[in-house]
Amino acid sequence: MDIHSKKKDASIFLRFTCFFFFLFRCSICDSSTLFPSLLSSHAKKNLSLSLSSLWYCWKFGSSATSYLSLGSKMASYQMEWSQSRNLSVRSPDALCSVAEIDEFDFSKALVERPRSLNIERQRSADERSMSELSVGFSPRPSSTKNDNSSRAGDTFDSAFSPLQKSGIPRSLILDPHPIINEGWEALRRSLVYFRGQPVGTIAALDNSDEKLNYDQVFVRDFVPSALAFLMHREPDIVKNFILKTLRLQSWEKKIDRFQLAEGVMPASFKVFHDPVRNHETLIADFGESAIGRVAPVDSGFWWIILLRAYTKATGDSSLAERPECQKGMRLILSLCLSEGFDTFPTLLCADGCCMIDRRMGVYGYPIEIQALFFMALRCALQLLKQDPEGKEFMERIVKRLHALSYHLRSYFWLDLKQLNDVYRFKTEEYSHTAVNKFNVIPDSLPDWVFDFMPHHGGYFIGNVSPARMDFRWFCLGNCIAILSCLATPEQSVAIMDLIESRWQELVGEMPVKVCYPAIESHEWRIITGCDPKNTRWSYHNGGSWPVLLWLLAAASIKTGRPQIARHALEIAETRLLKDNWPEYYDGTQGRYIGKQARKFQTWSIAGYLVARMMLDDPSHLGIVALEEDKHLKPLLKRSNSWNL
Ligand code: GLC
Repeated sequence: MDIHSKKKDASIFLRFTCFFFFLFRCSICDSSTLFPSLLSSHAKKNLSLSLSSLWYCWKFGSSATSYLSLGSKMASYQMEWSQSRNLSVRSPDALCSVAEIDEFDFSKALVERPRSLNIERQRSADERSMSELSVGFSPRPSSTKNDNSSRAGDTFDSAFSPLQKSGIPRSLILDPHPIINEGWEALRRSLVYFRGQPVGTIAALDNSDEKLNYDQVFVRDFVPSALAFLMHREPDIVKNFILKTLRLQSWEKKIDRFQLAEGVMPASFKVFHDPVRNHETLIADFGESAIGRVAPVDSGFWWIILLRAYTKATGDSSLAERPECQKGMRLILSLCLSEGFDTFPTLLCADGCCMIDRRMGVYGYPIEIQALFFMALRCALQLLKQDPEGKEFMERIVKRLHALSYHLRSYFWLDLKQLNDVYRFKTEEYSHTAVNKFNVIPDSLPDWVFDFMPHHGGYFIGNVSPARMDFRWFCLGNCIAILSCLATPEQSVAIMDLIESRWQELVGEMPVKVCYPAIESHEWRIITGCDPKNTRWSYHNGGSWPVLLWLLAAASIKTGRPQIARHALEIAETRLLKDNWPEYYDGTQGRYIGKQARKFQTWSIAGYLVARMMLDDPSHLGIVALEEDKHLKPLLKRSNSWNL
C-alpha cells in the first residue's frame, strides 16, 4: 500500500470517528437534537459548534483530539464574540445615563493590559460560514425578541443584507457582489515590494495621470489597506510596514537647513530600484518634498493605532514589545506631550498636516488631529511596557487624556443648545468666570449652521482657538471620536443622528463628504489662497471620499446602527467599480467623479472592502475601535445631546 492510500484510509477512519463523536456529542447535549426547532438555545449553540467542528474535521481529516480542542476553542471564541457584541454594539437605549459619564478613569488603563486575542478568534472563512449557517437552522424563537440579551444580536442581524439573514457573510457567499472580488484584485495589484517582501500599497495605480507622489506608499493611505489585510488574516504585510516605517523614523530629516524632530514619521515612502547595482533602497518624504512642505502630524498617530490594530487582530504582542517599537512610540509621544507655551491640551498644527494636506483653513487645532491624538494616546497606553521609561510616559498620557477629553467635549461640541448659547454669547469677558472663554464673537457664526443643526444631533466642530470657531463638520474627526470613545455615548448617538438627518448633504450620491460645507468665493480665495484644486465641492473642499466609508461603517456598527453603513455601502456599490475607484467625487451631492481625482485610488478600494468586511462580520470592529472605560466620573451637563 503506498503512502497516499495509507493517508487516505487514516483520513476516512478519522472522519468516521469524528462523525460518531459528533452524534454522541449531540445526544448528550439535548435529546431533541433531531428536532432542531425544539432545541433549547444552549443545545442550539452546541449543535452549531458540533456541526462546525464536524465539518472542519471532515474537511481536513484531522484527529478526534483536534476536534475536541477545536470544539472548546470555538466555544471560547463564541463566548468572546458574543461578549464583544454586547460590549461594543449597544442600542441607544442601553447607553449609560448622562450622570454616569464624563471622563474616563484613564489611570485604570495603567494596570489594564490589552486583552490579547486568541488566534482562534480569527476564524477561517470556511469555519465561519459553517458555524453561522448552523445558527440559521431553526428560526429564532419569537419570545426572545424583547429579551434584552438578544438585543445586541438583533442589532447585528439588521446589519446583514437580505441575502445574509442566515448569517452567512455576504463576502463568502459563492456569488458575492463582483465588486468584492474586483476590489481584492485591485488591492493586490497595488502592493509595493521591497527586496522581495510586501511593505505597503501604492497610493494610486493610475497611469493615465501625472504621478506626482501618487506612486508612493502613504502612511495614512495604507491604514485601510492594513485593516483589510488584518481582517483577511494576512498580517505579514502590516508587520513589514510597521517595521519599515520605524526604520525610516530614525533617519535624519531636514528641510533646507532645519532639522526635524526625531519622532516624526514619514508622510510617504517609495522603493527606489538602482538598475546598475541591482539594488533597492527606500526614499521617504517627511514633508520636505510635500506640496506646502508640511510635516504629517497624523502619520505618527496612525502608526501607533496600526500597531494596536495588529496586536489586537493577531494576538501577537511581541511586535509591540520589541525595544525598537517601544522606542518609536516614545519618540512620537515625546513630540506631542512636550511642554511649551500651550494653554490648551490640544495640539497646535500647521495647515495641511493631515488627510487634508493643503491649505484649507484647518491650521490651529483641527479636530482630525485632536481625535487621532486622543486615540493614539489610548492605544499607546495599551501598548507601552511597564518599564521605568514606559511608566513615565503612561503617567503623562493619563494626565493629558483627562485634560484633552474635557477640553474637546466641552469646547468643540456643538448641538442645538450649545449653538443657541454661542449665539447669545457675551464678549469681552475677563477672568476665570468668563462663559465665552475664547471670546468668540457671535457675528462670526455662519448662516448655514443654523439650518444645518438638527433638533437631535450634534458634532465636534472643526477647530477652536482664540476668537475662532470653525463650525465645519469633518467626517474623519467625528468618526474617530466615536471609535476612540472621545465622544461620550450620548455624543456618539448625536453624531450618527446628525448624519441621518443631514443625509443628502453628508452622504448624498457618494459617501462621504470630507467636510461640510464647502467654502466659496471670497472666503475660498482668502482661506485656500485661490487653490484651483480645492474649488467649492471638490477635493478637500466638500468633496466626497469613498475611503471614509470604513470610518462611517465602524462608527455605525459601534453605535449599534449598522443600517446607516449598509445604506451608504449600497449607494457606493452602484458606482465605485464602474467608475474605477476614484479618489474623490465632486458636487453638492457627490455626483461627479472628481475633477482631478485619480482612478484606482488604493484607499478608496480598501476603504470599501474594510467597510464591507465589518458589516459582514462585525466582530472585526474590535481591531479599530476602543472600548469604553467603565469607571467614569460624574460630569458637567451642558448641552442637549448630553441629556437625551
Ligand atoms: C491627497 C490626500 C492625502 C493622501 C494623498 C495620497 O493628497 O489629500 O490625504 O494621503 O492624496 O493619496
